[in-house]
Amino acid sequence: MRLIQHKREAYWFYRFLSLGYDRWINPLFWTPAMRTVALTPARLDDRALRVVDVGAGTGFTTEGIVEHVDAANVTMLDQSPHQLARSHRRPGLAACRRVEGDAEDLPFPDASFDRYVSAGSIEYWPDPARAIAEAHRVLRPGGIALVAGPLRPRHRVGRLLADTWMLFPEDEQYRAWFAAAGFVEVSAAYAAPEWHRGGPASYGIAIAGMREQAVFGRANGAGATGATGAGATGAGERGATPVAEHFDAPFTGREKLRFAGRFVAGSAAGAAFVPIAAALTARERLARRRRR
Ligand SMILES: C[S@@+](CC[C@H](N)C(=O)[O-])C[C@H]1O[C@@H](n2cnc3c(N)ncnc32)[C@H](O)[C@@H]1O
Repeated sequence: MRLIQHKREAYWFYRFLSLGYDRWINPLFWTPAMRTVALTPARLDDRALRVVDVGAGTGFTTEGIVEHVDAANVTMLDQSPHQLARSHRRPGLAACRRVEGDAEDLPFPDASFDRYVSAGSIEYWPDPARAIAEAHRVLRPGGIALVAGPLRPRHRVGRLLADTWMLFPEDEQYRAWFAAAGFVEVSAAYAAPEWHRGGPASYGIAIAGMREQAVFGRANGAGATGATGAGATGAGERGATPVAEHFDAPFTGREKLRFAGRFVAGSAAGAAFVPIAAALTARERLARRRRR
């Protein structure tokens, strides 16, 4: 069903959610400790790395990136101008470049970046395989892509709400998309907030893969900040499949009705996670206080 796994629905969802995202919503589901674990496979080991953060939103993950990389080398991309506007409240991101754009059709030439990071955005992509192929295309050979996202809940009620709301892929799906895009040396880390009972491997994954190193005569590899040869090829070449959705495409009366239905029901399913997470967080804190 996945009612908000559509660009227009996601755009309007964040039009409203951006107002309370940093204060009320994000801290329940995506914490600084989780971010540290999730960013590790991206190997942000050089301040000069050119990094793109796709679905950067208000910049919570970008703040983790600029702990390791100069902010001036970081590009934040998001389809929501409302989310990006909020990122200006984070002083550490002042030097980052902001770009409005679509994860499935990145507005960058091939081999533009050393690292691709995307956290918590895949849930909204109608065609994740295409977006991950785009990650491959915009990386130089030897560059690393990292996609962090949720895993399909194991609990029946959680699964029902998740499947109504947006995309919660299985572990194997993430791996299959990375393999299909042509990534090698694929590895993963797992993270969960304190309130989550089932362990990190049943909550969120951060999967990373490398764009194959240059092979002499086929692609011209470069150092961390170097240029890439025009011969670089990969499974994720631009235009391999057409982009199926555009958030700003004109829509008919019937489509407007469908949009409204999806938006209301999908947002309600998503909203249901908030009191559940808030109650479990309160319980966890109480239990910790008692243990002291
Ligand atoms: C849960 S927020 C994550 C924001 C940020 N990465 C963080 O860690 O807090 C998801 C973001 O993905 C963006 N998004 C959803 N679909 C997108 C698409 N097709 N292209 C670009 N951004 C998209 C949303 O606008 C939103 O800002």
